[in-house]
Amino acid sequence: MKLAVYAGSFDPITLGHEDIIKRASKMFDKVQVVLARNASKTTLFSWGDRKDMLEKACAKFKNVSVGDFDGLLVEYCEFIGARFLIRGLRAVTDFEYELLLAHANRTQSTKVETVFLPTHPELSFVSSSTVRELARLKGDLKKFVSPDVEQVLRGKFSHVQTIRPGDGSHA
Ligand code: COA
Repeated sequence: MKLAVYAGSFDPITLGHEDIIKRASKMFDKVQVVLARNASKTTLFSWGDRKDMLEKACAKFKNVSVGDFDGLLVEYCEFIGARFLIRGLRAVTDFEYELLLAHANRTQSTKVETVFLPTHPELSFVSSSTVRELARLKGDLKKFVSPDVEQVLRGKFSHVQTIRPGDGSHA
């Protein structure tokens, strides 16, 4: 049985991530989407909120489950018997970081192979940080996240006041 892991900080999960999950679910017998910690990121959403959003987004896929782990990812892959680690590539700019990550992971385990999937071209502009910024500024999120995630984002920023054109003084 081919089990693959798709890990990330998912702050929040975007349509770009969902596209990778959907395609991976057709390539492998089982996929586990794993909420993990990127030590260089401070997150907007709590661990629990991010996991809830992941669970909702993955519920429609029969062979996709959701897990979470705070430690060395390849160790977790070995523990659950996953030999594949999926990563999405949006543009060449992702490549350097992703290659370093894949090499670093390989120094820790030769049993786990990184598999790169090119992001759908129509979603190559999507990133969780753009989503957070657009949500804070009350922008249109339809092309970025699912309606469920949009609702959570709207709630998170409901208290934020923005200045719209025609509202008065613009510094
Ligand atoms: N479409 C659109 N956007 C995508 C995407 C896709 N297919 N794939 C990734 N992205 C975006 C994300 O939205 C995110 O955007 P942001 O930087 O603006 O927040 C960015 O690309 C990367 O996010 P993600 O895929 O969630 O990865 P990450 O860099 O947050 O997570 C971990 C990296 C968690 C997998 C990595 O740090 C890890 O393995 N941590 C565990 C500890 C460990 O073992 N470290 C490895 C040894 S150094």
